[in-house]
Amino acid sequence: MKPKVGIIGKGNVGSAIKRGLEKAGYQVRAVGRDPKEVGETAKWAELVVLAVPFQAIDEALKAMGDGIVGKPLVDVTNLYTPEMMAAVGSRSGAEELQRKAAGAKVVKAFNTHFAKNMETGRIGEQQLTFLAAGDDREAKAKVLGLGRDLGFDAVDAGPLANSKLLESLGNLNIQLGYSLGLGTGIGFRLVRT
Ligand SMILES: NC(=O)c1ccc[n+]([C@@H]2O[C@H](COP(=O)([O-])OP(=O)(O)OC[C@H]3O[C@@H](n4cnc5c(N)ncnc54)[C@H](OP(=O)(O)O)[C@@H]3O)[C@@H](O)[C@H]2O)c1
Repeated sequence: MKPKVGIIGKGNVGSAIKRGLEKAGYQVRAVGRDPKEVGETAKWAELVVLAVPFQAIDEALKAMGDGIVGKPLVDVTNLYTPEMMAAVGSRSGAEELQRKAAGAKVVKAFNTHFAKNMETGRIGEQQLTFLAAGDDREAKAKVLGLGRDLGFDAVDAGPLANSKLLESLGNLNIQLGYSLGLGTGIGFRLVRT
C-alpha cells in the first residue's frame, strides 16, 4: 500500500518529489507556508515530507500540530554557513527536529541530492543512491519505498544519529555543486553488487 504523502513546502524540492511520486502512482498534496493548508495536509497525509528551510521548521511544526503524531516525518533539510560548511552543532538537524516533534517518526532522506535529480532518482541512465536514516524501522521502510518508487537505489543508512553523516554528505554535495563549480547535475552513487 502506498501511503498518502503530504509535502510541506512546494519549492524546488517539494515540487520535484511531488512530480516524481505522482508518476509513481502516489496520492500527493504539496503546500506552501499557509498554516491552515499545512495543518490540513499533515492531518490528511499518512507520511509527511518536510521540505522547508531548516529555519522554518518551528513555524511548520506549529502549523502541523498533532497531525504528524505517529507518522513518518521526512527531514530533507540542509543547514549550512555562507562557506557551505555544516552549521549544526554536536547534534544533527534531524535529531533537533525529532526533539521538537516528539510524536513523529523522523527519517532523514533526500538531503544528499539536488532537487532536480529527485524526480527520477537518476542522472541520465545512472541511478543515484537514496540514503535514509531513522530509528523507527517501519517509518524508515516506508521512506525507503518512496525513494525506490521514485527511481533511486534505496539504502538504509542506519539510525537517526547517522543523520549527522548524511548532513555532511549533503554539505559536500552543495560545495561540489556550487562552490567548486560542478553544477547540480551531479549526485552520489554507492557501487554495490
Ligand atoms: N534545492 C535543493 O537542491 C535541495 C537539495 C537538498 C535539500 N534541500 C533542502 O530542502 C529544503 C527546501 O529547499 P527548496 O530548495 O525546495 O526551497 P524553496 O524552493 O525556497 O522552497 C521552500 C518552501 O518552503 C516553504 N516555507 C514554509 N515556511 C517557510 C518559511 N517560514 N520561510 C520560508 N519558506 C517557507 C515555502 O513556502 P511558500 O511557497 O509559501 O514560499 C516554499 O514552498 C531546504 O531545507 C533545503 O536545505 C534543498
